Amino acid sequence: MKHLLKMLDLSTEEIIDILNLADQLKYELKHGIPHPLLKGKTLGMIFQKASTRTRVSFETGMYQLGGYPLFLSSNDLQIGRGEPVQDTARVLSRYLDGIMIRTFEQKEVEMLSEYGSIPIINGLTDFCHPCQVLADLMTIRELRGSFDGLKMCFIGDGNNMANSLTVGCLKVGMAVSLACPEGYRPPDEILDFAGKYDNFELTADPLTAAKGADVVITDVWASMGQESEAEMRRKAFAGYQVNDRLMAEAAPDAIVLHCLPAHREEEITEKVFEAHANEIFEEAENRLHAQKAVMVKLMA
Ligand code: CP
Ligand code: NVA
Repeated sequence: MKHLLKMLDLSTEEIIDILNLADQLKYELKHGIPHPLLKGKTLGMIFQKASTRTRVSFETGMYQLGGYPLFLSSNDLQIGRGEPVQDTARVLSRYLDGIMIRTFEQKEVEMLSEYGSIPIINGLTDFCHPCQVLADLMTIRELRGSFDGLKMCFIGDGNNMANSLTVGCLKVGMAVSLACPEGYRPPDEILDFAGKYDNFELTADPLTAAKGADVVITDVWASMGQESEAEMRRKAFAGYQVNDRLMAEAAPDAIVLHCLPAHREEEITEKVFEAHANEIFEEAENRLHAQKAVMVKLMA
């Protein structure tokens, strides 16, 4: 594994290896065992979109590993004034040991990896969010002990989260059911991959998707960059809400995850959110551990 660009690139073994290391790093952190595995290394973090979790967890994680993180806002980089990503990649490769990038187009992340000579980590694009889904898988395994026989349902937009969850959950052996409105389904690249699995289902009906689900996941109706579509999306996604009615279809002990930020009373009710807050904030914490594992695998 040279980069983390998208879940489609990872084998099941690579995913499990990352999760095992993440568990170990979490244990060590909780027990005060230092792990300076990236001593003297630097990570550039390019942000073309806002972030709370990704920025803080990567920055803190790099510090805990003995390395140094640089926050690079696109407003300040020449990239924001049109310097090509091909040139940025070749320059930054001469200073840094790794780059994490959050941006719009997946192509930009792929291009960084083609032109640069250091590991590239995708910190979210419009297409996918692999760091989040590694943390989600870590959380599911932590709460359930294994992935055996589990079903994940995702309710809402066929967006970056739905894409990465579909691929990640299928790769570790879970059943996946997606409920997306017409016009908001995942792209063909994801559906072609998922279509090869017998335990994959795509429906327009949230209650069908939720039936017997062990893990219920949703995400915002309008993602970063889609602010102008918010009103239209509110109409399209009405009914695609994780609420008591939907949870009644899921397994009685189902867990609920949300990558955050959450919009209460839109994609999830306040009541369901708060009933599952322990799971959701464990998931947020696990961003730190999962990403540290990714950085160690790629940069140590
Ligand atoms: N879930 C997630 O990536 O959060 P941020 O946008 O705050 O980084
Ligand atoms: N789908 C959301 C995820 C945020 C972490 C977005 O892209 O804004």
